[in-house]
Amino acid sequence: MDAVELLIQQHRMLEQGMQKLEDAASDAERSKLLAEVGDHLTVHIASEEQVFYPAVRAARTEDVLLESLEEHLSLKRLLADLLALAPDAQTFEPKFKVLKEQTEHHHEEEEEHLFPKVCKLLDAKARAALGEEMQALQGQLRREGAPREAVAEQTDEAAPLR
Ligand SMILES: [Fe+2]
Ligand SMILES: [Fe+2]
Repeated sequence: MDAVELLIQQHRMLEQGMQKLEDAASDAERSKLLAEVGDHLTVHIASEEQVFYPAVRAARTEDVLLESLEEHLSLKRLLADLLALAPDAQTFEPKFKVLKEQTEHHHEEEEEHLFPKVCKLLDAKARAALGEEMQALQGQLRREGAPREAVAEQTDEAAPLR
């Protein structure tokens, strides 16, 4: 699948999952949805940082990639905080709202400022190969179990631009 289409599809799924969590009626549901959204967000970001960004790095994408890596760091910190909180904690809801807002902003940034450049840099065949590679990594991280748990160790600094 085309890497850009894959990422856009996952953006919409992540936004839907976050909306569901915001609307959740019970703490049990909030915990379950946070685990789902956390796993999805973590594998999405990992495949961008390890596969997609290195493949689309060029003079005209460098600025937006560096900014995106800083946005990823902020998302990881918020997610790590949330995973350590009880769903009935006073700070859970406001922190989650910030995660949701920042995630939506980040998706806009990628879709408006990065993906159009990627579509000029890489042809459909290259994007399809990249999509396969990203899906393979995401599948592998999911098979290893609870990918969200890895974010706690990625909160010191932004991942390097490779
Ligand atoms: Fe993304
Ligand atoms: Fe991203």
